[in-house]
Amino acid sequence: MELSTSSPAFQPVLHRIAAEIENTPERGRPADYIPALAACDPRRFGMAVAELDGTVYGVGDWRQPFSAQSLTKVFTLALALANGGDTLWEHVGREPSGNPFNSLVQLEYENGIPRNPFINAGALVVTDHLHTQTGDAVGTLLDFLRAESGNAHLAVNKDVAASESAHGDRNAALGHFMASYGNIGNPVPVLLDRYFHQCSIEASCADLALATGFLARHGIRADGTRLLTLSQAKQVNAVMLTCGTYDAAGEFAYRVGLPGKSGVGGGIIAVVPGRCTLCVWSPGLDERGNSVAGVAALERFTTLTGLSVF
Ligand code: DON
Repeated sequence: MELSTSSPAFQPVLHRIAAEIENTPERGRPADYIPALAACDPRRFGMAVAELDGTVYGVGDWRQPFSAQSLTKVFTLALALANGGDTLWEHVGREPSGNPFNSLVQLEYENGIPRNPFINAGALVVTDHLHTQTGDAVGTLLDFLRAESGNAHLAVNKDVAASESAHGDRNAALGHFMASYGNIGNPVPVLLDRYFHQCSIEASCADLALATGFLARHGIRADGTRLLTLSQAKQVNAVMLTCGTYDAAGEFAYRVGLPGKSGVGGGIIAVVPGRCTLCVWSPGLDERGNSVAGVAALERFTTLTGLSVF
């Protein structure tokens, strides 16, 4: 351990990590199965840390909006639990899948109940519930992200949503397949449209680190009101730790030691319960869809600060 866990400011460690990442040649490749994401420069890098009181530290491209993609699945899960309670868990499991995030194979063996809320099938179930509960899943999500980040300008990138929709056959297959088991309530085309818009929300590392704060505050929102019970906040963090990086969740827990969630836009959010939240962005991905520089930066953060859950 090279820094005290009581270090008053995270800025020096962020600068050190950014300098190390700058000297790392291997950055992975941007997601190309969504053409609108393929043009991102894999050498972009930003990182932000938000303390419980909303103080934010950042480095590199930490104020640059990027495509949040599957990071949004953490917030829809929390909002669906807050609105509808734990009956959600009758429709989606909480076990690591050990399979890629868009895999179809497990669904048939397991009767249309997805393994967890972070693989695409599980996220579709969560968004379906949130849409039924609120009448407007994407609007509810945007309102939440804007309030928690303090950034009223957060919005959907409609070009990315259209690109996802045009190349969304696999998600459509997942949606229709689950509907055949009675595990989807809304018409599948409506659900897919909402899901593609959800994934296409753009936000910066600063926005997303702040928006994740309720998970470090044991369920308490930025304005002091409670979103989740203590148990629910613990449970969402636990599912992030075990399932948040898909078939690389074991390796992520081993290297980083924090609940984390990745997205194919190159973002990763992570939680140090009771202490702070992080968001890192770099668009180059490994073969499992996780940001190469993002995982490396988080590993360096927990190593340099000693801040992990273990
Ligand atoms: O549905 C998809 O495939 C994308 N909109 C989101 C996938 C994603 O971010 C997986 N994360 N690593």
